[in-house]
Amino acid sequence: MSANFKAAWPMNLHGPAGSLEVKLADVDNGVDVPNPERYYSAEYMKKEWQHLWPRVWLLAGVTPDIPEHGDYTVFNIGHEEFVVVRQADGGIKAFYNVCPHRANRVCMNERGSVERFTCAFHGWKFGCDGKLESVTDEATYHPSLLANRPGLTEVRCDSIGGLIFINIDGKAPPLREWIGLPKGYIENYEIDKMHVVRHVRSEWLANWKTGLDAFYETYHLPHIHPQTQGVMEDFSQYDLYPNGFSRMIVPIGVKSHRLKDQDSVDPYQQYMMKEAGIDPATFTGSASDVREAIQKAKRQRGKRFGLANYEKMTDGQLTDSWATGYFPNVQIGMHPEGVFIMRFLPHPTDPERFFYDNMTMFRYVADPGYTVPGWMGLPEGMDTTGATRPDIEHVPAGVKPNLGEVLDQDVELVAAVQKGQRSAGFRGPLWCEQEQRLRHFHRELDRYINGEK
Ligand code: FES
Ligand SMILES: [Fe+2]
Repeated sequence: MSANFKAAWPMNLHGPAGSLEVKLADVDNGVDVPNPERYYSAEYMKKEWQHLWPRVWLLAGVTPDIPEHGDYTVFNIGHEEFVVVRQADGGIKAFYNVCPHRANRVCMNERGSVERFTCAFHGWKFGCDGKLESVTDEATYHPSLLANRPGLTEVRCDSIGGLIFINIDGKAPPLREWIGLPKGYIENYEIDKMHVVRHVRSEWLANWKTGLDAFYETYHLPHIHPQTQGVMEDFSQYDLYPNGFSRMIVPIGVKSHRLKDQDSVDPYQQYMMKEAGIDPATFTGSASDVREAIQKAKRQRGKRFGLANYEKMTDGQLTDSWATGYFPNVQIGMHPEGVFIMRFLPHPTDPERFFYDNMTMFRYVADPGYTVPGWMGLPEGMDTTGATRPDIEHVPAGVKPNLGEVLDQDVELVAAVQKGQRSAGFRGPLWCEQEQRLRHFHRELDRYINGEK
């Protein structure tokens, strides 16, 4: 090799020593080019159901959605569906959403609150702990059929920092060990104090991994989303954590290094300053000073509103997106004011479709000076106080999900990439160092599919 390709791209934010912002050491994931059949073959999809989905921890919901005993939320992935329920002792349990009698769905709604679950087909009743409470006309059963009092089938469930996970086969290591992120990484954001203010599930014409890949790098920003260049650096800091986890720190409030003019302040930078309480008219710095000015303003704001989570964050975290990949199918854009959760959910039968499930979560502060950040792109008039939990907006394939211009661009892109990936003319993805998170993710996926894990 003629040059050190890893040194050719030097992005390192020089986070404060000892902080979670510090760039991690490189991980050598080799240079193998995977076979693209993983993106379209039904056989590979079947393997994922044998070797991947049952064995990992899957993000099934968030704790603010089920604060009280009996509150539940339903989680679908592929052909399976689970119900996650708050228990009387404050714990959380998860069950297959299947009645043991004749397999009807026990919960027909996506969320709700119950004293007990009553199956709509023949009226069997189950406690929130999944135990069978009563069988309609029990005297008409041969007693042997009910001898073990069939209840809802439980799956393993645990939570960290407001995020609820399930493990279907029950054999994964403990959640804390399995999560490749250091302690505090998730907890510092205090997601348990946020609320879902928007939930959109759109169907895309691509494999779930084609979708995920497109959100795991910022290499494509100048080409597909040139409008981001005035306010976002596309040379991100990429970090690879154990167990297929990863993150990219996308510096926000700065102009891309690709733009010649690094002086004049971009209109969207001005908008961000206003959000942070800075009057752009009196700002005397250049475009390259904006990110730091916003960080200072937010630091003061955190003190004014007594936001404990700000105290735990580096200056960089106050402006930047810490887009964090939770193996296998989740990325969360993490910000102090809120988080943007993306789940890439496989379709029940078609390897060339997936559901892009987004929960926008916001930490409400009752002060007119504290507003919802522009990046959330919330439509006018939505409740942001957390008083009402919005229903899921289901968006069919081929319809734009109304999640903003950038995501509309991704919908089109991802469908085109999907078609190309199944062409005989494509030999597999050629990933550069800016795409190291993709390599890291696929390498971990291989370990599951090949039985190394
Ligand atoms: S299927 Fe549930 S009670 Fe019959
Ligand atoms: Fe994109």
